[in-house]
Amino acid sequence: MAILTILEYPDPRLSRVAQPVTAFDERLRTLVRDMSETMYAAAGVGLAAVQVDVLERVVVMDLSEEKNELRVFINPGIEWASAELESCEEGCLSVPGIYELVQRPAQVRIRAQDLQGARFELACTGTLAVCVQHEIDHLDGTVFVEHLSLLKQARVRAKLRKRRSRR
Ligand code: NI
Repeated sequence: MAILTILEYPDPRLSRVAQPVTAFDERLRTLVRDMSETMYAAAGVGLAAVQVDVLERVVVMDLSEEKNELRVFINPGIEWASAELESCEEGCLSVPGIYELVQRPAQVRIRAQDLQGARFELACTGTLAVCVQHEIDHLDGTVFVEHLSLLKQARVRAKLRKRRSRR
């Protein structure tokens, strides 16, 4: 097990597009284990492989109160999104200390594979819908703040610079 380094926005490596996973092997299981450990250690609810500088379509997530319901999504994709939109405050382990409202489809249906490669579909509403869209965005090189206006994005970058200079 290992705690991985989480890239921080605006690191250009967060803008790269992840490739599909083709081998459901020990290496993938190790990656998922390390990503889960990293997410739990950082007290996050979701982590995409791109955030730890691995360009593969792998997401881990745990929305439970007790942090005992790990979800693993390999090669996730959105099959359907509702026309109805909802605004929700989002944060991200790659954008520490920043929480902003983002508008997204209120419901989505996704398809993905599990650690063994078995395909499944999942209907998502509420926080789950927000999180899966946020994480799939990461796999396509998009950080949530990039959904904000350019003015807000500039403010976020300035805030992060200030935070980092204090570290
Ligand atoms: Ni994120």
